[in-house]
Amino acid sequence: MKIKKLQKIKSNGGEIFVYEGDLFDFPIRRVYFTKNVAVGEIRGHHAHKTLEQVLLCPHGAIEVNLDEGKGNIETVTLADPEEAIYVGPGTWHTMKWLKTDSILLVFASQPYEESDYIRDYEAFKSFASKI
Ligand code: TYD
Repeated sequence: MKIKKLQKIKSNGGEIFVYEGDLFDFPIRRVYFTKNVAVGEIRGHHAHKTLEQVLLCPHGAIEVNLDEGKGNIETVTLADPEEAIYVGPGTWHTMKWLKTDSILLVFASQPYEESDYIRDYEAFKSFASKI
């Protein structure tokens, strides 16, 4: 699992978190965030054919599971706003909300395109076996 840390700047009693340049070696074309998700809810359940993404949790705690179709599932809990994890193509991922009002912030390499999604797990396994 690729995890990197944002730059953290303490400033006037607050904190600034900076993601600058191509930290994970891809240019960002889209930024979105997901909020108002109930604790215990699990989102995701898909992989992408080409999209690269970075996931962050600026507030709260979210458990992320990454499955590259090789038999092992990697789990990380995003609870530190400094932490950013990479989700590459061919990675089945789920995100579970652990705390109320958690926010999932995503930086993506491409505009939204439904045809880039693989939403069927067996189709994902087949796709991943060919990478
Ligand atoms: P999805 O990416 O599956 O959300 P999650 O990974 O949080 O489960 O998207 C959920 C729905 O929202 C799906 O119908 C597609 C739509 N959507 C957009 O229209 N634009 C976007 O940028 C995103 C991320 C999702």
